[in-house]
Amino acid sequence: MATLRVPCVLSRRLAVAADVQLGLTGRGLCAEPRIQPGPRPSQQSQIKQNRQKQICLPALKHFDEKYHQELGELWDKAREVLLNPSSWQYAVLLNRFCPSELLEKHLQSQKYYNFLQIALPFLQHSLRCYISRTQCRYPKQRHQNERLKQYYLLNAASLLPVLALGIQDGECVLDMCAAPGGKSVAILQCSTPGHLLCNEPDNLRYKWLQQTLDSFVPEDVKRSIISVTQRDGRYFGSHLPEMYDKVLVDAPCSNDRSWLFSSDLFQTCTRIAHRPKLPTLQRQLLRSGVNALRPGGSLVYSTCTLSHAENDDVVSSLLNSCDNIQAVDLTELSCALSHDFTFAKGIQHGLLIVPERSKTWGPLYVSKLCKLH
Ligand SMILES: C[S@@+](CC[C@H](N)C(=O)[O-])C[C@H]1O[C@@H](n2cnc3c(N)ncnc32)[C@H](O)[C@@H]1O
Repeated sequence: MATLRVPCVLSRRLAVAADVQLGLTGRGLCAEPRIQPGPRPSQQSQIKQNRQKQICLPALKHFDEKYHQELGELWDKAREVLLNPSSWQYAVLLNRFCPSELLEKHLQSQKYYNFLQIALPFLQHSLRCYISRTQCRYPKQRHQNERLKQYYLLNAASLLPVLALGIQDGECVLDMCAAPGGKSVAILQCSTPGHLLCNEPDNLRYKWLQQTLDSFVPEDVKRSIISVTQRDGRYFGSHLPEMYDKVLVDAPCSNDRSWLFSSDLFQTCTRIAHRPKLPTLQRQLLRSGVNALRPGGSLVYSTCTLSHAENDDVVSSLLNSCDNIQAVDLTELSCALSHDFTFAKGIQHGLLIVPERSKTWGPLYVSKLCKLH
């Protein structure tokens, strides 16, 4: 029997109390949880303390200046959430390749609900993602060789690019900036592409991506429909033009959540100094994605930053220079999801999810583009 511990942010003592013990299912492929009671209420405040992270003040000052100007009062709400990691919510995306009724029952008993079943009922049989209104965090599952994981923990907002992409079975798909692989996993939960190319140039993150795929996707599926490459995303547009039905450019960006808690001051100052250069790379990746798209195909551009310069401005610059690309209206999707996500107003070419109290998902920007000819 294998033992899986709750995340390292919890103290060792409390982690023992919340252990999840794993046994093997009949087929011996999936890890089936036998879940013991979590920490007692008196232990909850201790957990919260252990989750305290150090705020990086130069990053906060920089964000305050920029985002107050761009978002006004909405920044105050987002700021409150971003500075309080114990309020962050985590969604549990189930792995359809390793189904478990027991796990779903346990989630329901913990007051988790399948939010997409309610918001987008036509998707209920594919993308099953559980969220809870409370600030609980389901334990992570550790990677174990040759065993599939049953679920992936993620920020529920990061499903939006995959939902917007609307991949049909059999389509040829490029996930251009794929590591650590959350969106590749989500793509495979709601569709069976004819071919899915997952790309990541960074060496360490490439390995992380491979491990994610190993953990969530059966060998035969990987062999038959997935390839993993380690290229600069700018390669695809010039070398594989008009190859893909769907392209996801989940671009490298100034990740607001992680920048705020970086403990490396030098790294933060370097990041802030180099921040104005990011849109150039983002524009190049977006253009490469568009070139790799076949006529009639569609592309989703997404980031996990609130920055206007890295979001709408990047899409604007493409739209201004290409007459065969059109932004797709995502209002229907935002209306369907407005119960669970807060969307900023006035976004020109897409949607921006802004975290606020009790709906702490995001930041996430998404724009969908269609190639007309
Ligand atoms: C926001 S993360 C992607 C997250 C991923 N899509 C997921 O859902 O797990 C952006 C990724 O882009 C990668 N990246 C950086 N420069 C790139 C480039 N020139 N071409 C392609 N990917 C790049 C980064 O290493 C990083 O892993």
